[in-house]
Amino acid sequence: MSSGRLRGKTALITGASRGIGAGVARAFAIEGASVVLTATDGPRLDAAARQLRAHGAGLVRAVVADLRDPRERRRLVDMAGPVDILVNNAGVLGLAPEALWRLPVDVFEGVMHVNTTAVFDLIRQIVPGMIERGSGTVINVSSSVGVKGRAGWGAYAVSKFAVEGLSQTLAADLHGTGVRCVVINPGGTRTDMRAQAKPDEDPLTLPQPADITAPFVAAAAADIANGARLDARDWLVAPVAS
Ligand SMILES: NC(=O)c1ccc[n+]([C@@H]2O[C@H](COP(=O)([O-])OP(=O)(O)OC[C@H]3O[C@@H](n4cnc5c(N)ncnc54)[C@H](OP(=O)(O)O)[C@@H]3O)[C@@H](O)[C@H]2O)c1
Repeated sequence: MSSGRLRGKTALITGASRGIGAGVARAFAIEGASVVLTATDGPRLDAAARQLRAHGAGLVRAVVADLRDPRERRRLVDMAGPVDILVNNAGVLGLAPEALWRLPVDVFEGVMHVNTTAVFDLIRQIVPGMIERGSGTVINVSSSVGVKGRAGWGAYAVSKFAVEGLSQTLAADLHGTGVRCVVINPGGTRTDMRAQAKPDEDPLTLPQPADITAPFVAAAAADIANGARLDARDWLVAPVAS
């Protein structure tokens, strides 16, 4: 049920065509936010946007952009306009499971570009406007393997460690500006990425993206302090349906 907590806010959500990003976009729209969705697959992104509009949400815009490309990141920021809430959610797993020493350099760099460099670059382009306005929220999506390395998780784990370090540094830089940075670890969630990472797992044992949006809404609504790190699993209200 909506309490309109994000009315008047504009949220840019990366990786919003499916999975966790689509769930977060829907939760934000229900709370009254205008949302800008982005991903690389145009038809799928348009379908996600259409679905949101059909649910009577506020302004919903879709911008196709490949976050590996600096020019596309620039165009995305230009098209989004002033952003109150930036959710750096888009992510790729790369080759996994695989030992680090077997990863080709281009695979390692590809993961780092989407999961880390794009996060930094969107922050670099969007946070100055937030600071000027004296408010704003950056939500960076991390992972359990961003705080404890695990065999086989390769470049993905390295990229998420970088996101954790970037977020801690940003939160310290933001002290006293009115802008906040919050890290969220979704925990295992029923999405394409999880199925790719753990093909033998029964997806029905996992929460769906819609089940884990509460910490995202709380962070976006300014209920969470700058520098916080949240585990979405701690916010689950109902047992996972099976
Ligand atoms: N699912 C889990 O269990 C889990 C657990 C911990 C952390 N996470 C994190 O949660 C976030 C979302 O994961 P998910 O499971 O929802 O993943 P997902 O279902 O695979 O969705 C990934 C999203 O990122 C977009 N994307 C991928 N490459 C992109 C690129 N180069 N440029 C722009 N967009 C791109 C995809 O859209 P296109 O394919 O159209 O580009 C898609 O919308 C990720 O940061 C992930 O690391 C997930």
